[in-house]
Amino acid sequence: MTNGNKSDDDGAAIVLLHGYPFDRSMWREQIDFLTANEFRVLAPDLRGFGEMSGKPQFVADADPGDPERRAEACRTSTTMEGMAGDVAELMDKLAIDQAVICGLSMGGYVAFDFTHLFPERVRGLILAGTRAPADNEEEKQARFQQVEQMRTSGMDEIARSTLPKLLARRTFHEKPEVVARVREMILNANPQGAAAAQRGMAARRDYSDDLAGINLPTLVIVGREDPIRPVADAKFMHERIRDSRLEIIEDAAHMTNMEQPEAFNKAVLGFLQTLAKPAGASPPS
Ligand code: MLT
Repeated sequence: MTNGNKSDDDGAAIVLLHGYPFDRSMWREQIDFLTANEFRVLAPDLRGFGEMSGKPQFVADADPGDPERRAEACRTSTTMEGMAGDVAELMDKLAIDQAVICGLSMGGYVAFDFTHLFPERVRGLILAGTRAPADNEEEKQARFQQVEQMRTSGMDEIARSTLPKLLARRTFHEKPEVVARVREMILNANPQGAAAAQRGMAARRDYSDDLAGINLPTLVIVGREDPIRPVADAKFMHERIRDSRLEIIEDAAHMTNMEQPEAFNKAVLGFLQTLAKPAGASPPS
């Protein structure tokens, strides 16, 4: 889950949270790059995915109006808060007090919940290909349809229908190895874990009201051609998070970090370097 290299400075730790239905391997280029730049990188598999496929699955609706029931659901289910709690536990195990939290899409939802639950543990925030509002009814129904599809035909149909939206035209033409890696990740996902995550995402909070209260340096990243979480979603977050900067990655759709790893890494490194400077020294976004 970690790169094994470490710096003594907690401020140099960064947690990379993968999207759905992927796993930690989507961060390969970032793990290599950030490790080479002396950062301590944690890239965990989230509940239901990769090595965490055996973790407890979604068993109950996590009703935001009932704190006790929600707390129980978080302990036993695949909720975004539960995933955030797993990240905090991992950081405890590794004696990391504070880290930069970077999440892509579903990983971004987990980053929002982590920031809400453990604000003192976040040194900076990177929100890539994600959005703040919760799902509307239609979007929830689409998730439940996917859950049904996974139950009847596993991940094959999901791979076929989602791949065209995940990657930019140029990626399909010029980077067949990236297309193959993304397809493989989807096909290798445990359908039960993926179904649980879909239900967990449908039950997630609306993070829009958190934005004005996020008092942290934040980098918002989006692919110019992302049809899933388009530029407008990124602008919505950037306009409301006071200390944020926006990076739009060209020739990329949803999987910015895999499609354009150099541009993604450059933006992340530039952001991390501003955090190393004394307070107040960051250039305006
Ligand atoms: C992801 O890439 O994690 C998903 O697109 C998130 C979502 O379905 O909302």
